[in-house]
Amino acid sequence: MLTLDSKNSKGSPIKFLRDIEKRNQGFYKIIDDKKAFEKTENLAKKLKNNFNHFVVLGIGGSALGTICLKNALKPKDYEKLFVIDNIDPDFIKEIENKIDIKKTLFIVVSKSGDTLETLSQFFYFHKKITDQKLDTKKHFIFITDSEKGYLRGLANKENYETLDVPSNVGGRFSVLTAVSLFPAALIGIDIKKIITGAKKMRDRFLSKDAKKNIPFSLANTQYDFYEKGFKTNILFPYSNSLSSFSDWVKQLVCESTGKKFDNKKRKVFTGITIVPAIGVTDQHAQSQLFHEGPNDKLIIFFEIEKFKNTLKIPNKNLKNITFNELINIEKTSTKKSLQEAKRPTLTIKLDQISEETLGELFMLFEGATAFLGEFLNINAFNQPGVEHSKKLTKQAILKL
Ligand code: PA5
Repeated sequence: MLTLDSKNSKGSPIKFLRDIEKRNQGFYKIIDDKKAFEKTENLAKKLKNNFNHFVVLGIGGSALGTICLKNALKPKDYEKLFVIDNIDPDFIKEIENKIDIKKTLFIVVSKSGDTLETLSQFFYFHKKITDQKLDTKKHFIFITDSEKGYLRGLANKENYETLDVPSNVGGRFSVLTAVSLFPAALIGIDIKKIITGAKKMRDRFLSKDAKKNIPFSLANTQYDFYEKGFKTNILFPYSNSLSSFSDWVKQLVCESTGKKFDNKKRKVFTGITIVPAIGVTDQHAQSQLFHEGPNDKLIIFFEIEKFKNTLKIPNKNLKNITFNELINIEKTSTKKSLQEAKRPTLTIKLDQISEETLGELFMLFEGATAFLGEFLNINAFNQPGVEHSKKLTKQAILKL
């Protein structure tokens, strides 16, 4: 379960929900697609015991959700899964050295099916597989658009196993599709529960009642402060397990809100910057800046009520309290001192970190980001800047 301490629910979500609906985006509808879910779950069940390692080749929205789920939930098999989301040759080699290629399934994830970084990784490992005279069809699965792109073309031509990324779901909104659910299921994460949590939050997201609509409240707070000059959001989970969640939000919010033009093609150069921090570690680092630096940040705390472990600190001066109590006392004190310094804050409380709360969190931020797009009067679902740099890279290679 998840709660938000923002009272900011002014206005009604009705008009904005209508505007979002007009954009024909599937991120809040795909969780009802039973057929796609079952295909994902069944394929994972069939393959999970056939390999020692699973390697995701993907970048941006095709990688960050998986990294988040693995790091947050750390199921028994989590060390079997690697995500190569960069083309740093040392990083690629480091992972290659950790796997037994004969016992590895490569999951090539790309919505467009054309992303150079992902394709180059595919070509690299494809050669490794053929060099060993192994069957590429058994060692590669593609998760990609159902119709378009290089990967789809190759799958059709050469009969690779595939899972679909629905055409109306953009990369950074795809965590609740096979993109992240398939790798998560391979390492034993209960993906049904992720969907259960996501559905709960989706119902709130679609609620016309501003008080019930938590994504609307979150977006309202972010937008209100943005308008007042607080253009950065600090994501401050008091939990190491959520550090990769902040990276996922960073991509979602920055790529969705960072736009040059508004809906009427006027130059606006809009966007919220997301800066990840970790409690309590960052109390001894970035926190000084948050307290006394430029007052241009909304600080979003995440508090976890129940950790997996309870650890006592055996010291009378510390009243024999647990680390669990200490971490939340420190969170409350830091929040108080920031409030005394007139820094805006917000707390998202989770009863625990689980499949269900992560499902809720994904949908909370996806919904809030969709509202933010409408408040800012921009298209939150495109990424012309990213596309342009992809194009220039391809051109530069062609010129070689
Ligand atoms: O959100 C987006 O659209 C992007 O960040 C993509 O996720 C990223 O560029 C990877 O694209 P693709 O999944 O097409 O390989």
